[in-house]
Amino acid sequence: MSSSKRYTITAALPYTNGPIHIGHLAGVYVPGDIYARFLRLKGNDVAYICGSDEHGVAIPMRAKKEGVTPQQIIDKYHGIIKQSFEDFGISFDNYSRTSAEIHHETASEFFKKMYEDGKFVEEVSEQLYDAEADQFLADRFVIGTCPKCGFEESYGDQCENCGTSHNATDLINPKSAITGNVPVLKQTKHWFLPLDKHEAFLREWILEGHKNDWKSNVLGQVKSWIDDGLRPRAVTRDLDWGIPVPVEGADGKVLYVWFDAPIGYISSTKEWAAREGKNWEDYWKDENTKLVHFIGKDNIVFHCIIFPSMLKAHGGYILPENVPANEFLNLEGNKLSTSKNWAVWLHEYLEEFPGQQDVLRYTLTANAPENKDNDFTWKDFQAKNNNELVAIFGNFINRVVVLTNKYYNGVIPVPGDYSEVDEDVLEQLKQFPDVIAKSIERYRFREASQELMNLARLGNKYLADEEPWKVIKEDEERVKTIMYVALQIATALSIVSEPFLPFTSSKLKSILKVDENLSWNDVTEKEALLPEEHQIGKAELLFSKIEDKTIEAQIQKLEDTKKANEAANKEVEPQKDTIEFDDFTKMDIRIGTILEAEKVAKTKKLLKLKVDVGIDVRTIVSGIAESFKPEDIVGQQVTVLCNLAPRKIRGVESQGMILMTDAEDGSLAFVEPQQKVQNGGQVC
Ligand code: MF3
Ligand code: ZN
Repeated sequence: MSSSKRYTITAALPYTNGPIHIGHLAGVYVPGDIYARFLRLKGNDVAYICGSDEHGVAIPMRAKKEGVTPQQIIDKYHGIIKQSFEDFGISFDNYSRTSAEIHHETASEFFKKMYEDGKFVEEVSEQLYDAEADQFLADRFVIGTCPKCGFEESYGDQCENCGTSHNATDLINPKSAITGNVPVLKQTKHWFLPLDKHEAFLREWILEGHKNDWKSNVLGQVKSWIDDGLRPRAVTRDLDWGIPVPVEGADGKVLYVWFDAPIGYISSTKEWAAREGKNWEDYWKDENTKLVHFIGKDNIVFHCIIFPSMLKAHGGYILPENVPANEFLNLEGNKLSTSKNWAVWLHEYLEEFPGQQDVLRYTLTANAPENKDNDFTWKDFQAKNNNELVAIFGNFINRVVVLTNKYYNGVIPVPGDYSEVDEDVLEQLKQFPDVIAKSIERYRFREASQELMNLARLGNKYLADEEPWKVIKEDEERVKTIMYVALQIATALSIVSEPFLPFTSSKLKSILKVDENLSWNDVTEKEALLPEEHQIGKAELLFSKIEDKTIEAQIQKLEDTKKANEAANKEVEPQKDTIEFDDFTKMDIRIGTILEAEKVAKTKKLLKLKVDVGIDVRTIVSGIAESFKPEDIVGQQVTVLCNLAPRKIRGVESQGMILMTDAEDGSLAFVEPQQKVQNGGQVC
């Protein structure tokens, strides 16, 4: 492996209009974190940079809906998101926010320099305008049919269905997201980044220069955009939320959020450098620095086409070495969605699985959507924990630590001569750091995590084959060697697991009292990772089994979400034809009380009820058995249509009808008086 290098690693700045969920973690922040931690362990100079993206148009929209200010929204979610990252051990060197002064300055200067150098095209053009809201419509403020795939709810700047990015005026049948009105066209001046002028450079730099080292999903998207023809993109907007356009004659205009946000990587680096006494320019302007952007697939166009064109046009900046974008993670077969609450929220996960961050990190890595969309299921989460982390990794470590304490009071024994098996195992052990490193360097984090587990497997199998707990009865000397070898594997695990399982790694290092200076390469190069006579600590559980009922509760929670969404989406039936007052007064509707209830034999839905309706006690057959148990509704007051002609249902004569409605969860609900009413009380 080459000598140490400087790396600027960025992770997409999350929008502060909601908390973050497992999809964000799996696609961007965990892979970025594994990469950054690994490079640091290898002795590189690393800046892992992130921050909150606070100028997204969804932010003022959400504020309006909640009746608060946009500032309150960004403060709230910036806090929650930042905390989630800390809680999950995402080791950013700096986490900033685009509302910070240093960012406003940096982005303004960036724009000004490009403006002064004539890198924009200034154009008065017709843009969509909502007269009622007195607002120009772009991005999320306008919804219409995607010109590429026909999806009817595409946003103005990007279609969530096919991922295409377009201009709002390209939409077919555009509608204002604020009022629902059909927008009109109105003239306004904007500054455009002429992407068409950068096409040749982009083709050459990416499609030629990186055709062998960028991921095929990324190359594919880039190629399709370039082949479709790049067009000038407006980088300013008529909005009041964002960074004011810093030139004359731009009152009421702000920078397009996708212009300012990626510059946030630079401002966040500046903030960090100032604090740490470093020079930020080393991380952005030195050709020897490697810039790597971790993002999800919906961000590819911005990081591979727009931002590099900005950096190039501005001049003086390095371009990304790689943009290892991931595909999407689904949850139990459905697309993750903030608005539909179809997600596992990080802050909720931590409440329900306290201290188990590494289990989620591991599951998300082992199932990372690296080359295609992938599915997170709770069953799989349980299996990864119980069958791998507990049964292999945890079991191996526990045996090593318990036996070392039992046989030697926790002091590393002096080994005797190695057997062939020992030699072989130690040799294999030395290969692991390189094998794992190769996968990480190629952004194959799933593969890397499987290799990590293979190292634990090696240790687990070694102990199972050598059976020190049996050998101890005949050959105490041999056991010293076995335990010594096993302890070396355990120590290696404490080091190479760090990028993946940082909490476990640190716990394990403290149990084994591992020398803090041991690095990744020492696992291959050093004779003994834990020297003879070194004293280790007592055993502590690294992982614990997750029970079926815990998983069932999570699945139930998602089922409830699904039901609530279905109910919320149910369309309201249109009004029926008009009737005369007389038609209404013909109906005899009264309050009654259920006295008896039983299932109608051989039916799923029917209950036979005895209802006191004041006039008499009568039998009514009602299709409510799927929503109520007979014993639960005795005593229930109900509304009854009494003069409905009797009819036979499954051989029972029903003398009336109980009035019901649909509850939010999809079950049936009684229509009952708000206070207790005398049986026979009329509804009119
Ligand atoms: N906020 C954007 C998103 O969540 C990502 C911004 S990345 C940056 O999709 F480069 F603009 F910072
Ligand atoms: Zn589309």
